Amino acid sequence: MNFTSQIDNWYTKNKRDLPWRKNKDPYSVWLSEIILQQTQIQQGLPYYTKFIKKYPDVFSLAIAHEEEILKLWQGLGYYSRARNLHKTAKIIVSDYSGIFPKTFLQLLKLPGIGKYTASAISSICFEEKQAVLDGNVFRLLSRYFGIDIPINSSKGIKTFEKLSYDLLPKINIGDYNQALMDFGSLVCKPKMAKCDICILQDDCNAHGNKTTYLLPVKIKKHKVLTKHFNFIIFIDSYNNTKIEQRNDKGIWWKLYQFPLIISDKELNITELISNLKTLNPILSSKYEVELINPKPEIHNLTHRKLYIKYWKIQMDDLSPNLTPIKNLVNYPFPIVLSRFIKSYF
Ligand code: ADE
Repeated sequence: MNFTSQIDNWYTKNKRDLPWRKNKDPYSVWLSEIILQQTQIQQGLPYYTKFIKKYPDVFSLAIAHEEEILKLWQGLGYYSRARNLHKTAKIIVSDYSGIFPKTFLQLLKLPGIGKYTASAISSICFEEKQAVLDGNVFRLLSRYFGIDIPINSSKGIKTFEKLSYDLLPKINIGDYNQALMDFGSLVCKPKMAKCDICILQDDCNAHGNKTTYLLPVKIKKHKVLTKHFNFIIFIDSYNNTKIEQRNDKGIWWKLYQFPLIISDKELNITELISNLKTLNPILSSKYEVELINPKPEIHNLTHRKLYIKYWKIQMDDLSPNLTPIKNLVNYPFPIVLSRFIKSYF
């Protein structure tokens, strides 16, 4: 039996029972695919359930407030994906009368839908002949066929695109694509590959050559920069604090934060106080500064390693534009800050 038929047979017996597989509704499949770009199925499922409950169809998502969507997304990271989800819902309602476009090329034009998601939706929901290449599929194919070209190089991408397309079955393309993803995440796992129970073992190149754990190959592309983030927690005697909405178009765009001082090196209290002047006019004449976490919290992002310190500044008098601390839960914050808020206040 060839690779494709073996994968199909395996899926018939081992397919995961996932809510968006119950019917082939493109709204559910799209939502699940966007959520699962951030996270594994087990962590993504509760988000999918929350979203479907609150926004059961593309119309309810399109009319939602962006801030509400960001709040529901909180913890998944990559907030631009949530913003694109909203934009695409609006376009589908306004330009397509709420009916999802069916083809790979039409889907590709929508915000937040790249090749991967367009292939997934068009093949799963509409049986278009498109191969889905996610991390699971790259890993499985690179091991089975013994390909050590880096999967994030242009030569690697071309090689895997051609191979995965050539392997597609004639029918049930969507099921086959999902079978590859399930097989990759349940059997051909990144670290603890279950080669002992693998039905492909006999013909697997990596298994034969004992190279399973060396594949797939990936080139490291960027240097991770270190930054020190000093969040300033102003508190006045009425239990108000100061928050602001971020407007630089990075990963935390439009989320809220406490006033922030960024530095290349760790700041001590004297240096922090001299920097505080930049946060005027919030500072009153009388205040006390206290470092809340002497050991900085480390937060790793794709391109940055953040060392985070929280500084409390107690002030007597009430300044304008402050937020009651008890209302902080209503705002979308980056996950590091919402964790801090939960544990500190
Ligand atoms: N990971 C992302 N999308 C998936 C899907 N449709 N099936 C299995 N795993 C996935």
